[in-house]
Amino acid sequence: MQIQTFKVEEWMNEYEKYCKYDLGNTTVNILSIDELLKMCEIDRKAFWQNLSSKKLGYGDIKGSDDLKQGIASLYQHINPEDVLPTAGAAGANHLVFYSLIEPEDNVISVIPTYQQLYSIPASFKADVKLLRLKKENNFLPDINELKRLANKKTKMICINNPNNPAGSLISENLMNEIINIARENESYILCDEVYRGLNHDGSVTPSVSDLYEKGISTSSMSKTFSLAGVRLGWLATKDKSVLKQCMSHREYSLISCSILDEAVSALALKNADKIINKNVSTINEHLKILDDWVRNEKHVSYVKPVSGTTAMIYYDADIKSKELCDRLAKEKGVFLTPGFCFEEEFCFRIGYCKGLQQLKKGLEIISEYFRQFS
Ligand SMILES: Cc1ncc(COP(=O)(O)O)c(C=O)c1O
Repeated sequence: MQIQTFKVEEWMNEYEKYCKYDLGNTTVNILSIDELLKMCEIDRKAFWQNLSSKKLGYGDIKGSDDLKQGIASLYQHINPEDVLPTAGAAGANHLVFYSLIEPEDNVISVIPTYQQLYSIPASFKADVKLLRLKKENNFLPDINELKRLANKKTKMICINNPNNPAGSLISENLMNEIINIARENESYILCDEVYRGLNHDGSVTPSVSDLYEKGISTSSMSKTFSLAGVRLGWLATKDKSVLKQCMSHREYSLISCSILDEAVSALALKNADKIINKNVSTINEHLKILDDWVRNEKHVSYVKPVSGTTAMIYYDADIKSKELCDRLAKEKGVFLTPGFCFEEEFCFRIGYCKGLQQLKKGLEIISEYFRQFS
Protein backbone atom coordinates (compact mmCIF):
# COMPACT_ATOMS: atom_id res chain seq x y z
CA MET A 1 0.00 0.00 0.00
CA GLN A 2 1.30 3.46 -0.96
CA ILE A 3 1.91 5.96 1.82
CA GLN A 4 3.66 9.35 1.89
CA THR A 5 7.07 9.41 3.54
CA PHE A 6 6.68 10.40 7.20
CA LYS A 7 8.81 13.50 6.87
CA VAL A 8 9.33 14.35 10.51
CA GLU A 9 10.23 10.81 11.55
CA GLU A 10 12.52 10.33 8.54
CA TRP A 11 14.28 13.61 9.32
CA MET A 12 14.73 12.71 12.98
CA ASN A 13 16.09 9.26 12.13
CA GLU A 14 18.62 10.71 9.74
CA TYR A 15 19.75 13.81 11.62
CA GLU A 16 19.69 12.76 15.25
CA LYS A 17 23.21 11.40 14.82
CA TYR A 18 24.64 14.89 14.16
CA CYS A 19 23.04 16.23 17.26
CA LYS A 20 25.26 17.87 19.84
CA TYR A 21 22.62 20.42 20.75
CA ASP A 22 19.24 18.71 20.77
CA LEU A 23 16.58 21.21 19.74
CA GLY A 24 14.80 18.58 17.69
CA ASN A 25 13.24 16.22 20.20
CA THR A 26 9.84 16.97 21.68
CA THR A 27 10.08 15.28 25.06
CA VAL A 28 10.84 16.82 28.45
CA ASN A 29 12.68 15.30 31.44
CA ILE A 30 12.65 11.73 30.11
CA LEU A 31 12.57 9.47 33.18
CA SER A 32 14.46 6.32 34.04
CA ILE A 33 12.59 3.76 36.14
CA ASP A 34 14.78 4.71 39.12
CA GLU A 35 13.89 8.38 38.73
CA LEU A 36 10.21 7.50 38.44
CA LEU A 37 10.33 5.39 41.61
CA LYS A 38 12.08 8.18 43.47
CA MET A 39 9.51 10.75 42.38
CA CYS A 40 6.69 8.43 43.37
CA GLU A 41 8.39 7.57 46.68
CA ILE A 42 8.19 3.86 45.92
CA ASP A 43 10.58 1.38 47.48
CA ARG A 44 12.90 0.23 44.70
CA LYS A 45 13.45 -3.26 46.02
CA ALA A 46 9.75 -3.95 46.60
CA PHE A 47 8.90 -2.62 43.12
CA TRP A 48 11.44 -4.85 41.37
CA GLN A 49 10.51 -7.86 43.47
CA ASN A 50 6.89 -7.43 42.52
CA LEU A 51 7.73 -6.91 38.84
CA SER A 52 10.24 -9.75 38.55
CA SER A 53 7.82 -12.25 40.07
CA LYS A 54 5.13 -11.43 37.49
CA LYS A 55 4.39 -14.20 35.00
CA LEU A 56 5.10 -12.80 31.55
CA GLY A 57 1.84 -13.81 29.94
CA TYR A 58 -0.34 -11.63 27.76
CA GLY A 59 -1.95 -10.06 30.82
CA ASP A 60 -5.39 -8.49 30.54
CA ILE A 61 -6.07 -8.35 26.83
CA LYS A 62 -7.91 -5.03 27.12
CA GLY A 63 -5.35 -3.57 29.56
CA SER A 64 -4.87 -3.98 33.31
CA ASP A 65 -7.44 -2.44 35.66
CA ASP A 66 -4.78 -0.24 37.27
CA LEU A 67 -3.72 1.12 33.91
CA LYS A 68 -7.23 1.84 32.66
CA GLN A 69 -8.20 3.40 35.98
CA GLY A 70 -5.14 5.67 35.75
CA ILE A 71 -5.94 6.67 32.18
CA ALA A 72 -9.62 7.32 33.00
CA SER A 73 -8.56 9.61 35.86
CA LEU A 74 -7.14 12.04 33.25
CA TYR A 75 -10.65 12.65 31.88
CA GLN A 76 -13.91 14.04 33.28
CA HIS A 77 -16.44 11.53 31.97
CA ILE A 78 -14.31 8.66 30.67
CA ASN A 79 -14.57 5.37 32.59
CA PRO A 80 -11.99 2.57 32.48
CA GLU A 81 -14.16 0.62 30.04
CA ASP A 82 -14.07 3.57 27.59
CA VAL A 83 -10.31 3.17 27.19
CA LEU A 84 -8.35 0.93 24.80
CA PRO A 85 -4.55 0.68 25.29
CA THR A 86 -2.33 0.69 22.19
CA ALA A 87 1.35 0.80 21.19
CA GLY A 88 1.92 4.52 21.78
CA ALA A 89 -0.26 7.35 20.49
CA ALA A 90 1.12 6.47 17.06
CA GLY A 91 -0.54 3.07 17.47
CA ALA A 92 -3.77 4.69 18.65
CA ASN A 93 -3.99 7.10 15.70
CA HIS A 94 -3.24 4.31 13.27
CA LEU A 95 -5.82 2.02 14.85
CA VAL A 96 -8.56 4.65 14.65
CA PHE A 97 -7.98 5.21 10.91
CA TYR A 98 -7.55 1.50 10.22
CA SER A 99 -10.85 0.77 11.99
CA LEU A 100 -13.02 3.62 10.71
CA ILE A 101 -11.75 5.00 7.41
CA GLU A 102 -12.61 3.49 4.05
CA PRO A 103 -11.84 4.52 0.44
CA GLU A 104 -13.65 7.70 -0.61
CA ASP A 105 -14.52 8.73 2.94
CA ASN A 106 -14.16 12.46 3.46
CA VAL A 107 -11.65 13.43 6.12
CA ILE A 108 -10.56 16.91 7.21
CA SER A 109 -7.23 17.34 8.96
CA VAL A 110 -5.44 20.35 10.35
CA ILE A 111 -1.92 21.06 9.13
CA PRO A 112 0.77 21.56 10.47
CA THR A 113 0.44 18.60 12.76
CA TYR A 114 1.73 15.07 13.26
CA GLN A 115 1.66 13.70 9.73
CA GLN A 116 -0.23 10.53 10.69
CA LEU A 117 -3.40 12.62 10.85
CA TYR A 118 -3.52 13.28 7.11
CA SER A 119 -1.19 10.75 5.48
CA ILE A 120 -2.72 7.60 6.98
CA PRO A 121 -6.30 8.38 5.87
CA ALA A 122 -4.91 9.39 2.45
CA SER A 123 -3.15 6.00 2.24
CA PHE A 124 -6.52 4.34 2.87
CA LYS A 125 -7.75 6.26 -0.21
CA ALA A 126 -9.87 8.70 1.75
CA ASP A 127 -10.44 12.15 0.27
CA VAL A 128 -8.43 14.30 2.70
CA LYS A 129 -8.96 18.06 2.88
CA LEU A 130 -6.41 20.14 4.76
CA LEU A 131 -7.31 22.94 7.12
CA ARG A 132 -4.20 25.11 7.41
CA LEU A 133 -3.42 26.54 10.83
CA LYS A 134 -1.97 29.95 10.11
CA LYS A 135 0.59 31.93 12.05
CA GLU A 136 -1.64 35.05 11.65
CA ASN A 137 -4.41 33.15 13.45
CA ASN A 138 -2.15 31.91 16.27
CA PHE A 139 -2.15 28.45 14.69
CA LEU A 140 -5.81 27.90 15.60
CA PRO A 141 -8.42 26.42 13.27
CA ASP A 142 -10.41 29.04 11.35
CA ILE A 143 -14.02 28.13 12.07
CA ASN A 144 -15.38 29.70 8.89
CA GLU A 145 -12.95 27.72 6.80
CA LEU A 146 -13.86 24.53 8.64
CA LYS A 147 -17.55 25.27 7.92
CA ARG A 148 -16.70 25.62 4.24
CA LEU A 149 -14.79 22.32 4.17
CA ALA A 150 -17.26 20.23 6.20
CA ASN A 151 -20.44 18.70 4.89
CA LYS A 152 -22.69 15.68 5.41
CA LYS A 153 -20.06 13.48 3.77
CA THR A 154 -17.37 14.40 6.32
CA LYS A 155 -16.62 11.20 8.17
CA MET A 156 -13.91 12.54 10.44
CA ILE A 157 -12.28 15.81 11.51
CA CYS A 158 -8.70 15.36 12.76
CA ILE A 159 -7.19 17.87 15.14
CA ASN A 160 -4.27 17.94 17.53
CA ASN A 161 -4.62 19.70 20.87
CA PRO A 162 -2.19 21.04 22.08
CA ASN A 163 -0.61 21.35 18.67
CA ASN A 164 2.74 19.93 17.66
CA PRO A 165 4.63 21.82 16.17
CA ALA A 166 3.14 25.22 17.07
CA GLY A 167 2.40 24.82 20.80
CA SER A 168 -1.05 26.38 20.25
CA LEU A 169 -4.09 25.39 22.27
CA ILE A 170 -7.74 25.11 21.23
CA SER A 171 -9.81 26.53 24.10
CA GLU A 172 -12.97 24.80 25.33
CA ASN A 173 -15.09 27.45 23.56
CA LEU A 174 -13.35 26.98 20.25
CA MET A 175 -13.50 23.20 20.67
CA ASN A 176 -17.27 23.47 21.18
CA GLU A 177 -17.54 25.39 17.91
CA ILE A 178 -15.66 22.60 16.14
CA ILE A 179 -17.90 20.05 17.83
CA ASN A 180 -21.03 21.89 16.65
CA ILE A 181 -19.84 21.57 13.04
CA ALA A 182 -18.99 17.89 13.54
CA ARG A 183 -22.31 17.17 15.25
CA GLU A 184 -24.29 18.84 12.47
CA ASN A 185 -22.57 16.53 9.99
CA GLU A 186 -22.45 13.46 12.26
CA SER A 187 -18.67 13.38 11.88
CA TYR A 188 -16.19 11.87 14.29
CA ILE A 189 -13.54 14.10 15.78
CA LEU A 190 -10.17 12.44 16.29
CA CYS A 191 -8.13 14.63 18.60
CA ASP A 192 -4.49 13.73 19.14
CA GLU A 193 -3.98 14.86 22.75
CA VAL A 194 -0.49 13.54 23.31
CA TYR A 195 0.65 16.85 24.90
CA ARG A 196 -2.52 17.34 26.99
CA GLY A 197 -1.62 18.35 30.54
CA LEU A 198 1.31 20.52 29.48
CA ASN A 199 -0.45 23.92 29.40
CA HIS A 200 2.11 26.46 30.53
CA ASP A 201 -0.26 28.22 32.92
CA GLY A 202 -1.05 24.92 34.67
CA SER A 203 -4.65 24.83 33.44
CA VAL A 204 -6.17 21.61 32.07
CA THR A 205 -8.12 21.73 28.82
CA PRO A 206 -11.05 19.29 28.55
CA SER A 207 -10.59 16.36 26.22
CA VAL A 208 -12.69 16.04 23.07
CA SER A 209 -13.93 12.71 24.46
CA ASP A 210 -15.38 14.51 27.49
CA LEU A 211 -17.18 17.06 25.34
CA TYR A 212 -18.45 15.14 22.33
CA GLU A 213 -20.24 11.80 22.02
CA LYS A 214 -18.36 11.04 18.77
CA GLY A 215 -15.06 12.44 20.03
CA ILE A 216 -12.04 10.15 20.09
CA SER A 217 -9.05 11.13 22.21
CA THR A 218 -5.66 9.57 21.49
CA SER A 219 -2.75 9.99 23.84
CA SER A 220 0.17 8.24 25.51
CA MET A 221 2.85 8.13 28.19
CA SER A 222 5.42 9.64 25.83
CA LYS A 223 5.27 13.41 26.29
CA THR A 224 3.13 14.47 29.25
CA PHE A 225 4.56 11.65 31.40
CA SER A 226 8.12 11.60 30.00
CA LEU A 227 8.03 7.85 29.34
CA ALA A 228 8.29 7.57 25.55
CA GLY A 229 10.21 4.30 25.88
CA VAL A 230 7.34 2.34 27.42
CA ARG A 231 5.49 2.59 24.09
CA LEU A 232 2.14 2.75 25.80
CA GLY A 233 -0.72 4.79 24.42
CA TRP A 234 -4.49 4.63 24.25
CA LEU A 235 -7.68 5.84 22.73
CA ALA A 236 -10.60 7.00 24.86
CA THR A 237 -14.16 7.53 23.66
CA LYS A 238 -17.75 7.36 24.86
CA ASP A 239 -18.72 5.91 21.47
CA LYS A 240 -19.16 2.19 22.13
CA SER A 241 -19.31 1.29 18.47
CA VAL A 242 -15.92 2.97 17.83
CA LEU A 243 -14.41 1.09 20.77
CA LYS A 244 -15.81 -2.19 19.47
CA GLN A 245 -14.48 -1.62 15.96
CA CYS A 246 -11.06 -0.57 17.25
CA MET A 247 -10.89 -3.59 19.56
CA SER A 248 -11.82 -5.89 16.72
CA HIS A 249 -9.13 -4.40 14.45
CA ARG A 250 -6.57 -4.33 17.25
CA GLU A 251 -6.84 -8.13 17.61
CA TYR A 252 -5.06 -8.42 14.25
CA SER A 253 -2.00 -6.40 15.22
CA LEU A 254 -1.44 -6.32 18.97
CA ILE A 255 -3.30 -8.95 21.09
CA SER A 256 -2.31 -7.02 24.23
CA CYS A 257 0.19 -4.41 25.37
CA SER A 258 3.29 -5.45 27.33
CA ILE A 259 2.48 -6.09 31.00
CA LEU A 260 5.82 -4.47 31.94
CA ASP A 261 4.94 -1.27 30.07
CA GLU A 262 1.52 -1.33 31.69
CA ALA A 263 2.93 -1.69 35.21
CA VAL A 264 5.34 1.24 34.80
CA SER A 265 2.64 3.36 33.16
CA ALA A 266 0.08 2.61 35.89
CA LEU A 267 2.56 3.76 38.52
CA ALA A 268 3.27 7.00 36.64
CA LEU A 269 -0.44 7.67 36.14
CA LYS A 270 -1.07 7.23 39.86
CA ASN A 271 1.47 10.02 40.38
CA ALA A 272 0.40 12.11 37.41
CA ASP A 273 0.35 15.42 39.28
CA LYS A 274 3.97 15.14 40.43
CA ILE A 275 5.27 14.34 36.95
CA ILE A 276 3.16 16.96 35.22
CA ASN A 277 4.04 19.72 37.71
CA LYS A 278 7.74 19.03 37.27
CA ASN A 279 7.40 19.03 33.49
CA VAL A 280 5.38 22.25 33.35
CA SER A 281 7.91 23.98 35.55
CA THR A 282 10.80 22.80 33.32
CA ILE A 283 8.93 23.91 30.20
CA ASN A 284 8.38 27.40 31.63
CA GLU A 285 12.02 27.73 32.65
CA HIS A 286 13.12 26.78 29.13
CA LEU A 287 10.49 28.89 27.41
CA LYS A 288 11.81 31.99 29.17
CA ILE A 289 15.22 31.41 27.53
CA LEU A 290 13.63 30.83 24.14
CA ASP A 291 11.37 33.86 24.45
CA ASP A 292 14.27 36.18 25.38
CA TRP A 293 16.21 34.86 22.42
CA VAL A 294 13.33 35.43 19.98
CA ARG A 295 12.84 38.99 21.27
CA ASN A 296 16.52 39.82 20.80
CA GLU A 297 17.28 37.97 17.57
CA LYS A 298 16.29 40.26 14.73
CA HIS A 299 16.19 37.48 12.13
CA VAL A 300 13.42 35.45 13.82
CA SER A 301 9.84 35.70 14.99
CA TYR A 302 7.27 33.32 16.46
CA VAL A 303 3.86 32.93 18.00
CA LYS A 304 4.71 32.28 21.62
CA PRO A 305 3.57 28.75 22.47
CA VAL A 306 1.08 28.30 25.31
CA SER A 307 1.23 24.53 25.69
CA GLY A 308 3.42 21.53 24.89
CA THR A 309 7.15 21.47 24.25
CA THR A 310 7.60 22.88 20.75
CA ALA A 311 7.32 26.13 18.80
CA MET A 312 7.58 27.21 15.17
CA ILE A 313 10.32 29.75 14.58
CA TYR A 314 10.18 31.86 11.39
CA TYR A 315 13.31 33.46 9.94
CA ASP A 316 13.98 36.12 7.31
CA ALA A 317 17.11 34.59 5.72
CA ASP A 318 16.87 33.54 2.08
CA ILE A 319 17.51 29.84 2.61
CA LYS A 320 14.99 26.99 2.50
CA SER A 321 14.32 25.24 5.81
CA LYS A 322 15.75 21.87 4.76
CA GLU A 323 19.06 23.39 3.71
CA LEU A 324 19.27 25.57 6.81
CA CYS A 325 18.62 22.66 9.18
CA ASP A 326 20.89 20.33 7.21
CA ARG A 327 23.76 22.81 7.49
CA LEU A 328 23.15 23.62 11.14
CA ALA A 329 23.15 19.91 11.96
CA LYS A 330 26.15 18.84 9.87
CA GLU A 331 28.34 21.93 10.36
CA LYS A 332 27.41 23.02 13.88
CA GLY A 333 25.79 20.02 15.59
CA VAL A 334 22.49 21.86 16.14
CA PHE A 335 19.56 19.52 15.62
CA LEU A 336 16.32 21.23 14.51
CA THR A 337 13.33 20.10 12.45
CA PRO A 338 12.78 22.01 9.20
CA GLY A 339 9.40 23.56 8.41
CA PHE A 340 9.52 21.47 5.24
CA CYS A 341 8.48 18.46 7.38
CA PHE A 342 5.23 20.34 8.10
CA GLU A 343 4.68 21.64 4.55
CA GLU A 344 5.69 25.14 5.70
CA GLU A 345 8.71 27.20 4.59
CA PHE A 346 11.21 29.66 6.06
CA CYS A 347 10.69 28.24 9.51
CA PHE A 348 11.79 25.40 11.74
CA ARG A 349 10.33 23.58 14.71
CA ILE A 350 12.23 23.88 17.93
CA GLY A 351 11.85 21.37 20.75
CA TYR A 352 13.02 23.61 23.57
CA CYS A 353 12.70 21.36 26.60
CA LYS A 354 15.60 18.93 26.39
CA GLY A 355 18.49 20.48 28.36
CA LEU A 356 18.92 24.09 29.45
CA GLN A 357 22.60 24.37 28.48
CA GLN A 358 21.98 22.67 25.13
CA LEU A 359 19.18 25.14 24.48
CA LYS A 360 21.26 28.20 25.36
CA LYS A 361 24.27 27.08 23.36
CA GLY A 362 22.15 25.91 20.42
CA LEU A 363 20.36 29.28 20.22
CA GLU A 364 23.69 31.10 20.37
CA ILE A 365 24.98 29.06 17.43
CA ILE A 366 21.83 29.73 15.40
CA SER A 367 22.28 33.48 16.01
CA GLU A 368 25.92 33.28 14.92
CA TYR A 369 24.78 31.45 11.82
CA PHE A 370 22.18 34.11 10.96
CA ARG A 371 24.80 36.87 11.25
CA GLN A 372 26.11 35.92 7.80
CA PHE A 373 22.77 37.10 6.39
CA SER A 374 22.90 40.55 8.10
C1 LIG B 1 1.27 14.97 18.04
C2 LIG B 1 1.89 13.63 18.22
N1 LIG B 1 1.12 12.54 18.17
C3 LIG B 1 1.63 11.31 18.33
C4 LIG B 1 2.97 11.12 18.53
C5 LIG B 1 3.50 9.73 18.72
O1 LIG B 1 3.56 9.50 20.11
P1 LIG B 1 3.90 8.10 20.76
O2 LIG B 1 5.32 8.16 21.20
O3 LIG B 1 2.99 8.00 21.92
O4 LIG B 1 3.64 7.04 19.76
C6 LIG B 1 3.83 12.21 18.56
C7 LIG B 1 5.28 12.03 18.71
O5 LIG B 1 6.09 12.90 18.50
C8 LIG B 1 3.27 13.51 18.42
O6 LIG B 1 4.04 14.60 18.48
